[in-house]
Amino acid sequence: MKFSDKRVIVVSNRLPVAIFKNESGDWEVRPGTGGLVTALEPIIRKTNGLWIGWPGYSEDAPSDKLLADYNERNSFRLIPIDVTEEEIAKYYRGFSNKSIWPLFHDLLGRFSYNLSDMEVYKRVNKKFAEKVAQHATEKDTIWVHDYQLICVGRYLREMGIKRNINFFLHIPFPSYDLFRRFPHNREMIEAFLSYNHIGFQTAIDRRNFVSSIKWLLPDTMHSATRRQTIIHHEGHETVVGYYPISIDFNEFNNGSRSKEAEEAAWYLRENIKVDVIALGLDRLDYTKGIPERFLGFERLLKKYPETIGKISLLQIVVPSRLNVSEYQKLKDELDFLVGRINSRFSTQGWVPIYYQFRTLDRIQLLGHYKASDIALITPLRDGMNLISKEYCAASADNRGVLILSDFTGAAAQLSKGALMVNPYDFDQTADALFQAFKMTDEEKTRRMRLLRSEIRRNDLDRWVRWFFGEELRY
Ligand code: G6P
Repeated sequence: MKFSDKRVIVVSNRLPVAIFKNESGDWEVRPGTGGLVTALEPIIRKTNGLWIGWPGYSEDAPSDKLLADYNERNSFRLIPIDVTEEEIAKYYRGFSNKSIWPLFHDLLGRFSYNLSDMEVYKRVNKKFAEKVAQHATEKDTIWVHDYQLICVGRYLREMGIKRNINFFLHIPFPSYDLFRRFPHNREMIEAFLSYNHIGFQTAIDRRNFVSSIKWLLPDTMHSATRRQTIIHHEGHETVVGYYPISIDFNEFNNGSRSKEAEEAAWYLRENIKVDVIALGLDRLDYTKGIPERFLGFERLLKKYPETIGKISLLQIVVPSRLNVSEYQKLKDELDFLVGRINSRFSTQGWVPIYYQFRTLDRIQLLGHYKASDIALITPLRDGMNLISKEYCAASADNRGVLILSDFTGAAAQLSKGALMVNPYDFDQTADALFQAFKMTDEEKTRRMRLLRSEIRRNDLDRWVRWFFGEELRY
């Protein structure tokens, strides 16, 4: 059956919209931004599909009415799930973001676990499954996304749903040695096997998953091809593959040439008068290695004093998960570090780190990419990291230099053109920054061409085609 004969039902924790109060105090719905929305919106439209998810934080927002109006205006079908404040505290802030998130990002020291959070996680996953069952028909393709919803497939099976259920994990899957610390790890891994098809970001994630299965469920049978492993467990078959997510290359490439992006870049350079701007851009998250990046930048100034007064780090941190205590602590740490480094190194007319805690709209984002000479992307661990891909796609003049952490999913695709670093090694970060600082235009062009051609070839559309293989004809 072709993809176009089926409706696609996307299920993700958040709906692809943001509901918020505008300046006049009225509730508004705005389309969400980000990879998943851009990737899946065309499929939903073309297959007349549905998107099921949580509409946002605010319990007092009239979500049902707002979304009904939005759907009507946009010929879209977004189906909200009602999640109570107590459920959010345990399912989202608790089990998803204090247990799964840190452990799956290899940060055992940040991991904590609470049985009642896990119970509520499962209860909310069941709620999602019930909503899917209510709307799905025999012909639909169901596609569940990410770590907040691992158990949805299991509950759909328990409700007797037999058709194809797909899952994509956007974050890394840890090695067995870490996964075994996870209480109820067997139950979790069996929940994964309720799906017919699971996609990971990289070959390493797939390998880690398969090796956890081998240890925890030794009776499973496996057969493998280059990109996929088929796991047979209790009469059920699950295909496990890896499909690196990407961006819409043309959108960033063309967008960066627009007049608005040019103006935004010009404005930024007028405000930051320095020879070289290194850009850091991340959601507030301890996985992103922002303090380590600041320390790496500080090391550059100490080790290569000729860069003082000539290079600045422009770090944008997008507010995120602030009601999870670890995130609040991280914010305090960043404030402290910037203060310390700037007070030590600033000179008349020059500041080492420009740090802003805010969101950027699309034009500002393109302006930042265009105005920066270097992108300094140093997560301690990241499922993929789309910022690195966006930066290259927006570097249409081939002049930007990408410095990238070895521990991002993107590293597997971008290591030929980027300067690769271990973010824990501040000397490596400092050396890579210095190398980028001195790099000739020829070398910048050569490297950026490699990066751009890789991203152009393996863009968002390819990701969806990879996942659905021959089925995709939308
Ligand atoms: C990561 C996750 C997504 C999540 C996003 C924003 O990219 O993989 O599932 O939606 O972070 O986090 P938030 O907690 O605000 O949804």
